Formats: sequence, structure tokens, C-alpha cells
Amino acid sequence: MIDYVDIIFGLTWGDEGKGKITNAIAENYDYVCRWNGGPNAGHTVYLNGEKYKTHIVPSGIFQNKLSIIGPSCVFHVDQLMEEIKYLSFCGFDMNLIKVSPKAHVITDKHIKYDEENLQGKFGTTGKGIAPCYSDKMLRIGTRASEVLTDFMIWDEKLKGRILCEGAQSVNLDIDHGDYPYVTSSSTMPYSACSLGFSPKKIRRLIGVAKAYDTRVGNDPLFPDSLWDIEELNLVIEEGKEYGSTTGRKRKANWLNLNRLLHSINISGTTEIIINKFDVIEKLGFFKLILDDNLIEFETAEEFKKYIQTFISDNSEIVQDNIIFSGDVENI
Ligand code: IMP
Ligand code: MG
Repeated sequence: MIDYVDIIFGLTWGDEGKGKITNAIAENYDYVCRWNGGPNAGHTVYLNGEKYKTHIVPSGIFQNKLSIIGPSCVFHVDQLMEEIKYLSFCGFDMNLIKVSPKAHVITDKHIKYDEENLQGKFGTTGKGIAPCYSDKMLRIGTRASEVLTDFMIWDEKLKGRILCEGAQSVNLDIDHGDYPYVTSSSTMPYSACSLGFSPKKIRRLIGVAKAYDTRVGNDPLFPDSLWDIEELNLVIEEGKEYGSTTGRKRKANWLNLNRLLHSINISGTTEIIINKFDVIEKLGFFKLILDDNLIEFETAEEFKKYIQTFISDNSEIVQDNIIFSGDVENI
């Protein structure tokens, strides 16, 4: 029997530090599951001072938890094997990594198509994500059951306490994001139910954002003129805003509070974590965008209070459950 399901997901444009949050709370669960996307994601986790990275394996592996790649995910066999080899070399238990028989396989042809047709146009990660999902929809895809050995295949029975780890974010969702500047999967927390549990089992919907916004990949909402703003360049450097999958430098902008509120309400967020607060605190930049206006605050406290009040007053479910980064013990 499933006791409950908690879901961690991105509220902005990815790269909010979801992996860090997953790692911080994974010990309290029996399974950690990915439900969407593929190796376009990059999850960075620090353990005992060491930095680890995964692209397809859920961050639960770092806490010795069964780590499931779900039926709506896509993966590349060689890249998965490479990642498993790396994790095993680092001392993690590769027997905990399981793949749904229904997950779809990214081929070299998918990657080539992505690189030749989509990478320039949309700034995709070039990992073959869209072509793979498109073959899935055309009913000509290959599934994990056809290419992986039995011991890696998940029996699709979840029980106990489940943590779902989102990849990408609400604004990159195929339906709710700014189409066509989106990824090709359903990043919304409701899609975690594709893992095979009732929506009634969902307990906490933990949305992750950052104290400022970043974007990697093409998006008219993030014009090139943002590169000219000196303070935002300082945020990029202080926040080490370089893509963990592609190494690309991310564009930064001040936190867009209207967008954040929309993401919170449309996803049913019950609690929010705002990461990287330490970055703006160190720089002393307390700015956000509301109704296309830039609002500046004198102190970190005023900035936090304003965000907290605005979200509490305007969101449907979140009350005072807003945590600013550094405070992971309280999640
Ligand atoms: P794709 O998922 O590689 O097709 O890329 C589509 C869009 O989503 C591009 O703008 C990518 O930069 C963006 N994207 C995909 N995965 C991530 C991620 O993990 N973090 C941030 N952006 C991502
Ligand atoms: Mg990432």
C-alpha cells in the first residue's frame, strides 16, 4: 500500500535547485521517482563536501533509496549506463536504479535530429528529447522493456512513502509553459500520477524557485539586453549560473512575482522553497518585478516579507509555508 506521495517540482524555468531539496529530504521516503523528461535535466547534489551530478537517475540514489525512472520518462541506453557506472564508481548502490518497462528510448537518430533542427531554433539541450517523445506519440518508439535486461526493469509497484522529483519546471511544461519555448514533457506535478498512484495519495506539493529568475535556451521573455545589466551579471557569477547539462551560461533577471504566483496557483503548490537567497544577500540586491515594474527593497527582511505577504494573500493553498534557502532542516 502507498502511504503518501510528496512531489518536488520547479516553479520557474528549471535550475531552481530541486536536486538539493530532494537530497535533503529523501531519507524520509522509500522510493524517489522521476516522472518526466530525460537526460536534458541536470541534478547537482553535494554530499560530505563532494559534488555529484545526475541527468536521468533520480537524486534518491545519494540517500540509498530505490530510484525509479518512470513510464513517462525518456532515456538513452549508453548515457544511462555511463551514469550508472559513474555512480557505482562513487560508491552508490546501482542495484537501486530501476526503469519502467514503458519508458521510451532515445536513439542516436533522435539526438542528431535535435542537434540539426531544434538546438539552434529553440536552444534545446540537444539530448534528443523532442524527437523521442514525438516517436512515442507516433507509436513508433522503442520502450525500455525491449532493450534493458530484466534486473533493471521496475515491477511498477510502489509502496510506502513516495517522493517524486520533477525535472524542468512549470514554465517549461508542454501545455502550460510558453509554447513553443518549452520542453516536450509534462513537468506539472499532476503528471507524477503517471507513475501509477492515485491523485488522492498526494500529500505535499513542494514548489521550488530561486531568489532571482534564470533561463537557459531561447525565450523572448529573456531578451539579450539582460546581458547588459551589470548587477545581473554579478548575480550569474555569484550564483554560478552555468547549465549542469550543457555548460551554457544562464540569463538572469529579477524574480518575476506575477509569474511565480501563477505557477504556484496552477500547480496547486502547498509549500514553496526559494533557493539561492544567500546569493542576493551577499550582493545586497533585493529586487523583484511586479506588473512589469521593478521594485527595490532596502533590506533582505523587507524583500522576504513582501514576497511572503504577496503569495499568502494571493495564492489558493499556500499559507505561511514559504522557506528561504539555507533553511533545509525545516522542509
Ligand atoms: P529540451 O528539453 O532539450 O528539448 O529543451 C527545450 C527547452 O527546455 C530549452 O529552452 C532548454 O534549455 C530547456 N531545458 C530543458 N531541460 C532543462 C533543465 O533541466 N533546466 C533548464 N532548462 C531546461
Ligand atoms: Mg538543472
